[in-house]
Amino acid sequence: MEPTIHYGLAGVYFAETEICGINGDRGELFYRGYDIRDLTEATYTEVVYLLWHGELPTQRQLDDFRAELVPHYPIPDKVLELLLCLPPGTDPMHMLQAAAAMLAAFDDNPDEIDPDNLRRIGLSLVVQFPNLVATFERLRRGEQPLEPKSELGLAGNFLYMLNGEVPTPAAERVLNTALLLHAEHGSNASTFVARSSASTLTDAYSAIAAAVGSLKGPLHGGANEAVMRALESIGTIDKVEQYVLDTLAKPKGRVMGFGHRVYKVLDPRGAILRDVAAELAESSSEAEYFHMSLEMERVMEREMTARGRQVKPNLDFFSASVYRMLGIPVDLYTPIFAVARVSGWMAHLFEQYADNHLVRPLVKYQGERGRPFVPIAKRG
Ligand code: CMC
Repeated sequence: MEPTIHYGLAGVYFAETEICGINGDRGELFYRGYDIRDLTEATYTEVVYLLWHGELPTQRQLDDFRAELVPHYPIPDKVLELLLCLPPGTDPMHMLQAAAAMLAAFDDNPDEIDPDNLRRIGLSLVVQFPNLVATFERLRRGEQPLEPKSELGLAGNFLYMLNGEVPTPAAERVLNTALLLHAEHGSNASTFVARSSASTLTDAYSAIAAAVGSLKGPLHGGANEAVMRALESIGTIDKVEQYVLDTLAKPKGRVMGFGHRVYKVLDPRGAILRDVAAELAESSSEAEYFHMSLEMERVMEREMTARGRQVKPNLDFFSASVYRMLGIPVDLYTPIFAVARVSGWMAHLFEQYADNHLVRPLVKYQGERGRPFVPIAKRG
């Protein structure tokens, strides 16, 4: 019987999960049963706890969880040396992938996949990722890395380590929202990569390093940078419409930050970030990028409707102008996605290792068969 090929594994279920549910037709997203819109009242640290433990923490549990994170803050000296020896212009995602793999070498027990050891590794990666990104940024600016202020929480400490100033409550709130929206999203490409890597019973660091590589692509986490590069190249709001029309006129032309494999209506995370961006734009000198984004959304809505397509802004679209207005360098947008998503990747590794099945789909062979072997001396 001819096999059915599911290109891109679209519509294929490969596991069960209790972490996150998505209804793409209704634009709904739940973490552990909580609507993402309600979770914006929480902090990113609470959401990490929720993803890993299945329950929102009490204040006491949150305090204990934050205390558990503290010993994991320092970046191992040799990993710092790696950061220092990278050539100028190194993509921060390449740095992060290399560092994630290298952290295994400085862990006394990287290979055990029992829940306690995995949780310990997760605690480490959840603080190491923001530290690495902030430290890399400071080093390339010629500044000294900073000691963390763990009392600030994950979002606030990241902004502090990046900028050298305790963030305003408003800036901390915005980053908290961005991080918790990016933390988890079911079987997206990078989480699938993490889970399928783990399904070989490789160690968690290897699975996470693989996931970082997958997130970098512009069809996935790399889209937020691609959105901002596009807006920069367009320059002014009056040129947005022509940019969209020119892009759509190209074969397979894609306007970055639009469309989704699962959502057929507006991505709820995109809607939340649009509101966050609108608020920031009221007092930002970079508000132009948000106004260009709104114009792009308007033109895309008109053009996609005319083509009978449901293609709406996704998470990456408005996160680009949010990060711009927070003053974050463009090539850190995707690393910030990784800073958040590492918590979701770890939640999935807990599930994958607990009930492992090797991920090994098939590809249908369409090449030649029965070719006679010719020794090298006789090949013409
Ligand atoms: N621009 C223009 N047309 C689009 C777009 C877009 N961004 N996305 C989808 N379409 C249209 C298009 O008409 C396409 O039909 P055709 O192939 O005939 O031109 C149709 O919708 C189906 O699109 P698809 O690319 O086949 O759908 P997919 O499920 O394979 O891909 C996607 C989903 C996210 C890769 C795609 O929408 C895309 O390339 N978007 C731009 C990149 C992007 O923003 N990625 C971030 C994804 S969400 C967050 C994350 O994971 O990081």
